[in-house]
Amino acid sequence: MPGIVLVGAQWGDEGKGKITDLIANDFDYVVRYQGGNNAGHTVIANGHKLALHLIPSGIMYPNITPMIGNGCVVDPRILIEEMDKLEAEGFSTERLMLSGNAHLIMPYHLKIDEESERKLGDNLIGTTKRGIGPAYQDKAERSGIRVQDLLDEHIFRLKVETALVEKNEWLTKIYNSAPFTAEAICDEYLPYAQRIKPHIVESSQLLNEALRANKWVLFEGAQGTLLDIDHGTYPFVTSSSCTAGGAAIGSGVGPTAINKVLGIAKAYITRVGSGPFPTELFDETGEKLASVGGEVGVTTGRARRCGWYDAVIVKYAAEVNGLTDLCITKLDVLSCLDTIKVCVAYEHEDKRYTTVPGQQTAFHKATPLYEELPGWKTDITGCTSYKELPREAKDYIEFIEELAGVPVSIIAVGPDRDQTIMRRWKPRS
Ligand code: IMP
Repeated sequence: MPGIVLVGAQWGDEGKGKITDLIANDFDYVVRYQGGNNAGHTVIANGHKLALHLIPSGIMYPNITPMIGNGCVVDPRILIEEMDKLEAEGFSTERLMLSGNAHLIMPYHLKIDEESERKLGDNLIGTTKRGIGPAYQDKAERSGIRVQDLLDEHIFRLKVETALVEKNEWLTKIYNSAPFTAEAICDEYLPYAQRIKPHIVESSQLLNEALRANKWVLFEGAQGTLLDIDHGTYPFVTSSSCTAGGAAIGSGVGPTAINKVLGIAKAYITRVGSGPFPTELFDETGEKLASVGGEVGVTTGRARRCGWYDAVIVKYAAEVNGLTDLCITKLDVLSCLDTIKVCVAYEHEDKRYTTVPGQQTAFHKATPLYEELPGWKTDITGCTSYKELPREAKDYIEFIEELAGVPVSIIAVGPDRDQTIMRRWKPRS
């Protein structure tokens, strides 16, 4: 059962897109299993930068079947926009498969996301305002509308009309906002069905057949471990299961189909949106990391908060995901620093924590305890093998590896594909 999960080990934006793109060629299928167009990664296509939010990066390779699994939430307008962009660049989207069981993001979800954030005031989550939370809320509440509903006009209309009874009450009475009409939504959404129909599949069945035929499947996680609805820094999280276990649920395969879990972590750490962040930097070093690392969100254009590498978080990610391998990205960004700190533990009310505290308050108030390592102050962007890295950079990697208890198999030393050191990555072993 050759299934491998690629998962973010921090708060998202770890550079998963680049690594998926790099290793995808070893696979027959690349499957997104959670989230929606709150994610974002940039791919270079014919010298042009394309920002993809929903379609797995495997779309660029003719030998790969990209799939959007049942665990995702899909805004059909965005999906079609991305398909059009890719087609315009000469990439066929014919192979794209979309689970009929994925839920649709509806226009009222976008509005509710915006209005509920507004209502929260200073306590806002800082969502991407793409309607993600409200769409998952309806899924859990069993009033969601699924991709397959687009195939039956009668059912679709009925479900929209039923949903609007409550949504409009809520929108008008709680948010003081304008109501939606079923007609306007159907007029917009039903034509999408024509375009999407050829891509709708019974994804779980297809994937299981593929796995039985020894096809290789890469399950591509979006966001990151600390944004997971169960294992993240709740309530400052996204509304889906970003961790490796979500791959099974969000694509309809058993956990036994997964034989490796590759965690991606930046050589420092970033976060967008609100929520606790023990190693956050508010000084010049933080600004330096942000500017050298180009830390601006692909989806929202928001500046990312930056901090020192937090080994407590990555160790936690190693546990909740069952990581077998770790990939450290953006190591080159640290080349600008004289010394580099690594958070090895937290302290709160005289207690020392080497794993994420279970109590939310302790995590919010945790003081990070650091070890300081010498920097290397050398350009490493041309290094193509581990042995070419300066001693100090190798010491940094080996320190991280020891703290995580997981081998660092891949190291990224620049944004390009070939600026990656394949140290120990052996997907087929
Ligand atoms: P939502 O997913 O739009 O509901 O946003 C919930 C939280 O997850 C917010 O703090 C967002 O900034 C964060 N978030 C969602 N998607 C991403 C991502 O792809 N990278 C980093 N943070 C994300």
